[in-house]
Amino acid sequence: MTIDWPALRAAAVAAAARAYAPYSGLRVGAAAQAAGGQIVTGCNVENASYGLTLCAECGLVSALHASGAAQPDAPAQLLAVAVVAGDGAPLLPCGRCRQLLLEAGGAALLVDTAGGPVPLGELLPAAFDGAHLSARRAPG
Ligand code: THU
Repeated sequence: MTIDWPALRAAAVAAAARAYAPYSGLRVGAAAQAAGGQIVTGCNVENASYGLTLCAECGLVSALHASGAAQPDAPAQLLAVAVVAGDGAPLLPCGRCRQLLLEAGGAALLVDTAGGPVPLGELLPAAFDGAHLSARRAPG
């Protein structure tokens, strides 16, 4: 499937404008193309109890599932993602969100950067994933 990067970046910019970030002042927007072609978005939502802050990518992954865009049988739910700050320029996902995105898009998920899209596997090498759980879980 062709990735419409200009549309993804524009959707991420629009989501950033809707962020709730009164504490850090850093608005973040995220937009991803789902395997079915839909674009799903998220923005960061901060809280007076700072540790409860939700990153934009958290909202995006929640929207993926809540909207019905997730396809249970697809090998990966997300194909490409753009994350931007309020200035419109790419923002690299934090470590926690790289792990969150891995679950939804796998190592082949394309992540927009200032230098162009890169596979998530380059940003989160040697990642822990569900295969480690199934392989290493204690027997019954
Ligand atoms: N933030 C995100 O939304 N995504 C990231 O990947 C990095 C950080 C937000 C969280 C917080 O509201 C603000 O940026 C400053 O850390």
